[in-house]
Amino acid sequence: MPKIEKINGSVFKITYGHPANPIDVTLPYEDAHADFKCETRNDRLNVIDAGKTLITETDSKFDDGIFSVTFLYEDAHFFGLGEKMGYLDKRGKRFKMQNMDNPLHTPDLDPMYISIPFFITVSPKKPAIGIFVNSTSYSFFRLETDFTISVKDDGAEIYVIYGPKIQDVVSKFTQLVGKMEMPPAWSLGYQQSRWSYSTSSEALEIAKKLRTDDIPCDVIYLDIDYMDGYRVFTWGNNFKDPKRFSEEMKKLGFKIVTIVDPGVKIDENYEIYKSGKALDAFVKDQSGKDFVGYVWPGRCNFPDFLRSDVREWWSKSHKSLLENGVDGIWNDMNEPAIVWTDLKTAKIFELMKKGEIDFQILGQAKEFFVQEDFGDEIIHRDDEGHAWPHYKVRNIYAYLEAMATQKAFEMYKPNKRPFILTRAGFAGIQRYAAVWTGDNSSWWEHLEIEMPISMGLGMSGVAFTGTDVGGFGGNADGELLARWTEMGAFFPFFRNHSAIGTARQEPWSFGKKIEDVIRKYVKLRYELFPYIYTAFYFSHEHGIPIMRPLIFLDQDNEDLYSINDEFLFGDSILVAPITKPNSTWRTVYIPNGRWISMKDGKLYEADHVYKIDAPLDEIPVFVRENSMIFRTDPMNYLFEKGKMNLYVDIYGQKAAGYLYEDDGETLDYKSGKYNLYEFTVGQRDHGYTIGVKAINRGYAGRYEKIWMNFLNAPREIAEVTINGKKIESHFDGNVLKVEFELKDVI
Ligand code: GLC
Repeated sequence: MPKIEKINGSVFKITYGHPANPIDVTLPYEDAHADFKCETRNDRLNVIDAGKTLITETDSKFDDGIFSVTFLYEDAHFFGLGEKMGYLDKRGKRFKMQNMDNPLHTPDLDPMYISIPFFITVSPKKPAIGIFVNSTSYSFFRLETDFTISVKDDGAEIYVIYGPKIQDVVSKFTQLVGKMEMPPAWSLGYQQSRWSYSTSSEALEIAKKLRTDDIPCDVIYLDIDYMDGYRVFTWGNNFKDPKRFSEEMKKLGFKIVTIVDPGVKIDENYEIYKSGKALDAFVKDQSGKDFVGYVWPGRCNFPDFLRSDVREWWSKSHKSLLENGVDGIWNDMNEPAIVWTDLKTAKIFELMKKGEIDFQILGQAKEFFVQEDFGDEIIHRDDEGHAWPHYKVRNIYAYLEAMATQKAFEMYKPNKRPFILTRAGFAGIQRYAAVWTGDNSSWWEHLEIEMPISMGLGMSGVAFTGTDVGGFGGNADGELLARWTEMGAFFPFFRNHSAIGTARQEPWSFGKKIEDVIRKYVKLRYELFPYIYTAFYFSHEHGIPIMRPLIFLDQDNEDLYSINDEFLFGDSILVAPITKPNSTWRTVYIPNGRWISMKDGKLYEADHVYKIDAPLDEIPVFVRENSMIFRTDPMNYLFEKGKMNLYVDIYGQKAAGYLYEDDGETLDYKSGKYNLYEFTVGQRDHGYTIGVKAINRGYAGRYEKIWMNFLNAPREIAEVTINGKKIESHFDGNVLKVEFELKDVI
């Protein structure tokens, strides 16, 4: 019989057997809600809302080291589960949670880099219920008419989270596992990467070319080749004077993000290896020796991030980067990805000798060389010296590394916001890092599937996500890069990255026509900064994703469950990317409310499908009627200018919106040094009434002058007032314009 604990009015913790985690990722959390209950009947769990049973346990068993429990929730659809290939609705599928690097993202690939054992059951006219399996061990999900959760453990700890709305479940889940901090503002800008810009002059050339070509950009990434023979925390000969290099980059307005992989090269003449060895910092193999795995640098040892002294050593090791002008850290290969091990190689040779495997057959080679399960090979220890098998630590390995990386920022950049980008992670990874979806390919199919992958992450608490724009593996072409950039401009994280040996895909790589399209959308991204930053703030506050599926608008409408190729970006923008080559139009489903084309102001009605034109330089984008879009002037990079103009576009005859701002780089916002404004617009007596109110005013502010544009304003508008006082207005075409200074109205 499960043990039931009420955490608060919305959250129950159900414990079967005796599960054990090396760390607990949950946080204390209060919530008052009355009608929701979890009870046992005949020793089985029942989830009850307002007297109605929603979910019933039908079976539980322990077999061969795996605990399984099955539930029935009639007509359930399943959303979430973090980073998974495939569509948003996971009904009918099976998944495994085991952080894994497999660079070929085929439609049925599972598992992927990140494990978030959390999903939301959704069914029309029923409250959405979140299920979080708080196990760092490997877990398995079968989601059909009934669903089974299995955990490689002596039991399972399952949190049941009441909605009723999907967004409530997401928000409550992030209360439980943590929300994103405000990222540095520059990390919302466009970012340029390649494996690799391998000399400082090449990186500088790219930076300069972005400026001369007038493509706004904030960040250049340094992939593995900046290091000395792939030794982490070193600079190679091609980056002899990193300080000077970073200063030159700063002069151009660029930040630098460097890759850091967990594998430490075994090399007696290498400081990090020596200090790690002195600390006995590395995970062990079954015989108690330092475990050896092969990654880029060759034979490596791997830090045991489970130990706090190892994490501290790792944090300190960032000195060589963070004190040499590096602004952000990119954690890769942290599943951990290990291409092969001595033990594995020995096994392979043995099998080859016996003639049981044949490496002429590619499939067999792949099976052996893609890192599989090291569950039996690696041993971790916690602070008390307790041994933990790898399978209980693997899924939090990157999470622990990210914790250590965040501490590194506290050490070397006090009061500066960290920027950490990670490939692997666990539930709650958003507390420490942004996530990109790893090694996709330059395929149209991947452009399309990145939408549900990112939305799935968002529904699982990870709001700051993005993809390698243009695709990582394979060769992009101009059309693909243009379309992917158009879409990427509306993803929370916006970076162009590609693999060594593939066609170059910097914005200029495919000629002027393509570069012009890219410039247009990178510029739009910057123009929308005030709107996007505010969406980040609400995500930081409430855990609501920035990129959302349409089902967030109406979970009773089953038609929306299967829309995977349109998404909401913040509260008011709907994006419908072009996902196929040679296409200059697509059909768009317009959801609840009316939506207005950002391009030409045309109005579209809810629950209709429209054929929308989209020549190569246009992505269909719509704004929700009765909302506002906040924009600013063009820039080369964020906060290039101290003061910024603000443009507020009013879509509809009444609207309300929020605008958030802070200094964009320090932690001062945590002590109230930020501004949150509420703008409202209404109509009265043939006039517009504008209200501007400061909900919080703790920061000097960048926005001074404000231009409000009432799109499609009726001609008979006679008067405009702002906070009760009359203000001048004039028509420009069918746009009514008013201008004012923020200081004059509040
Ligand atoms: C991995 C990363 C990729 C990176 C490469 C080299 O494949 O996912 O982004 O470029 O390693 O470091």
